[in-house]
Amino acid sequence: MELEREFERVVAADHRVEPRDWMPDGYRKTLVRQIAQHAHSEIIGMQPEGNWISRAPSLRRKAILLAKVQDEAGHGLYLYAAAETLGADRADLTDKLIEGRQKYSSIFNYPTLSFADVGVIGWLVDGAAICNQVPLCRTSYGPYARAMIRVCKEESFHQRQGYELLLTMMRGTQEQRDMVQRSVDRWWWPSLMMFGPPDTESTNTEQSMKWRIKRHTNDELRQKFVDMTVPQAEKLGVTLPDPDLKWNEERGHHDFGEIDWTEFWQVVGGDGPCNAQRIAHRRKAHEDGAWVREAAAAYAAKKEQVA
Ligand code: 3HC
Repeated sequence: MELEREFERVVAADHRVEPRDWMPDGYRKTLVRQIAQHAHSEIIGMQPEGNWISRAPSLRRKAILLAKVQDEAGHGLYLYAAAETLGADRADLTDKLIEGRQKYSSIFNYPTLSFADVGVIGWLVDGAAICNQVPLCRTSYGPYARAMIRVCKEESFHQRQGYELLLTMMRGTQEQRDMVQRSVDRWWWPSLMMFGPPDTESTNTEQSMKWRIKRHTNDELRQKFVDMTVPQAEKLGVTLPDPDLKWNEERGHHDFGEIDWTEFWQVVGGDGPCNAQRIAHRRKAHEDGAWVREAAAAYAAKKEQVA
């Protein structure tokens, strides 16, 4: 019908679908799914690094980390607002997260065991996020694409502060250098898992590419991240924990070892090192904030009566 043809024309022309435009139910549904889970990831992602704010080694590092964690909160709120333009209800999305009916990124279910993790998360996790989020600035849904433009600018600061923190530690004592290497060993493979399952097991990629929600596949972005990160690791002086990692002249890319997909699906399924702790923390924060929501609702109702 005419509306469907107009939708297809807008997507094919690389224009933006806007909230008031007609869109297929499936398009709306998969966008709410991806944007909500993206938002959940940002909010849960505050926990691993937030764990180190009170123990940062200097006022400068504390200020940088505070700014980064606050940015993540802002990214989450931005993305919940984008989900609401599709008719989603923010309170409902929070319930779904807390009740395990929606996902968040597997990466945030790993513990932050040393301050080097703050640097490695900035360098690898935010670096992977940038690889994944820059193409989303060209996603077909307008509010999501526009939210990504600001998010990506802030992610660049996140990645750079992490890398600079690690460069500083690598110029420090042997103990600090060893701390960085141990952190890289723990975070490298979970960072590759952030890009999602292999394309052959990705249930959403084909349709998301057709609708230009996704602009590249999981494996394409993973490969881009590996190729980008190897020279950075060399400059840093750390070893990436993959004996199969090597440049393949023919492919023009780095070959790398097999990812442990059993671990990935275990973590996605709720059985990772910190899943229960992350959700319990989010549930408690939500419950502790109930009085603020009730007061705001009472105030709004009162204002309504007076108006
Ligand atoms: N963690 C948890 N679940 C994951 C996952 C991961 N790393 N990768 C994939 N999944 C889930 C998918 O959500 C999907 O389940 P669902 O159908 O119930 O939603 C299932 O595994 C199959 O995966 P698909 O490849 O079919 O799913 P997608 O097409 O949605 O691709 C994605 C997954 C690449 C994460 C895509 O959703 C995406 O690009 N999302 C937006 C970016 C995002 O959410 N990034 C998360 C990190 S945010 C972040 O890093 C913040 C920064 O500040 C550090």
